[in-house]
Amino acid sequence: MPANSFGKFLVILFACSIWVPGPARAGHLEPFKKAPEAASNPLTPEKIDLGRLLFFDRRLSGDGTMSCATCHIPELGFTDGQAIGLNYPTTRNWRNTPTLLNVVFYRFLFHDGRVTSLEDQALFPIMSAFEMNQNLDFVEEEIRSVPEYLSRFEKVFGDPDVTRDRMALALAAYQRTLISKNVPLDRFLKGDQQALSPVAREGFAIFTGKGNCAKCHFGTGLIDNEFHALHVPESPEFDRDPRVAATRRFVAKINHYEGFRDLAEDPGRYLVTKDRRDWKAFRTPTLREISRTAPYMHNGVFATLREVIDFLDAGGGPGNSELDPLGLSEEEKKSLEVFLVEALTGEEFSEEYPKVPDE
Ligand code: HEC
Ligand code: HEC
Repeated sequence: MPANSFGKFLVILFACSIWVPGPARAGHLEPFKKAPEAASNPLTPEKIDLGRLLFFDRRLSGDGTMSCATCHIPELGFTDGQAIGLNYPTTRNWRNTPTLLNVVFYRFLFHDGRVTSLEDQALFPIMSAFEMNQNLDFVEEEIRSVPEYLSRFEKVFGDPDVTRDRMALALAAYQRTLISKNVPLDRFLKGDQQALSPVAREGFAIFTGKGNCAKCHFGTGLIDNEFHALHVPESPEFDRDPRVAATRRFVAKINHYEGFRDLAEDPGRYLVTKDRRDWKAFRTPTLREISRTAPYMHNGVFATLREVIDFLDAGGGPGNSELDPLGLSEEEKKSLEVFLVEALTGEEFSEEYPKVPDE
């Protein structure tokens, strides 16, 4: 190739690499087009159905009382509606149960982003002492003892072997299908002005303008795949219930945080990176379906969207360096809230509870 056409080739290559649909730009909202896929876990209807069965199966917990759907309740937007999530009997959880709707858009899972795929995530709650408290070797044998599961595993994976990894693949496959449908914001972003009421359109202008929300909540998922220390107040449950504090110490301990015994706050992302800049930083959560998933923040301290808006308007918690006070008027706060509710709520998500095999 002559030198100057090689130069042209490089220019074209460079131009192409710019135009490949890449990560979303800050400030720029994008309508839903297609869900991200995992090459290692291609979706099939049979795998999704198997994942759904496992999701609703109480065998996954140590005492047989809890399934994933005990805390991720379909009618509550796959949350449990509690400030601090539900728990294994006699223990307490320490963080808010996040929605599983649109969870496929995240690059980092959990409030502190300690896991990077749904496939890797799925076994954690099963093992967690304060969630399902189940033994993985044992649950494999329990599932293996159910003939219907054997034939389903065979159909999905080619042989009836029940392994924890296959259970995780199926659970992840099911969760990859939990995506909101027919969201007004998507229609609006594709050019249908009428998809939003005039007040919601004002709220959209604040979201992308004066409110600076789209600095962190952008793209299709309304996330930036980053962590920010907004200095959200600590949960009052930490002082009220010693079991919540016990769980906090336990999690800090297994994450090798030396001062775990004296820990009085949730260190957030710091537990993962041990980088002081990540102290109390939490992942930017999706805002899709936000009207269905109260209470809010990693610890559920805000009961309503209005409380979240007031917190952000004040510039976040004392001492944070992420947010500036916004000076929103009463009317602006109201239209922002109307936008969050009206524009981001999709069709009612109706999930048929599957018939989990008895034996
Ligand atoms: C006892 C209540 C409870 C049960 C049971 C439970 N979860 Fe969760 N789930 C939570 C809480 C609380 C978190 C947030 C934990 C954190 O961030 O530290 C969470 C986080 C998640 C996340 C990450 C979501 C996100 O936004 O990052 C996924 C995915 C998930 N759970 C799936 C499952 C699956 C699959 C099961 C069943 C195998 C399950 N959960 C069982 C309470 C529960
Ligand atoms: C600097 C980045 C940043 C900016 C700017 C920002 N957010 Fe957030 N937002 C976050 C993070 C991080 C959280 C999670 C905090 C936590 O869990 O403690 C969050 C949480 C939320 C929640 C609660 C979500 C849930 O499921 O609990 C809502 C609602 C929200 N933001 C709306 C907004 C609105 C509206 C604006 C503009 C006024 C805004 N955010 C500006 C980063 C940001």
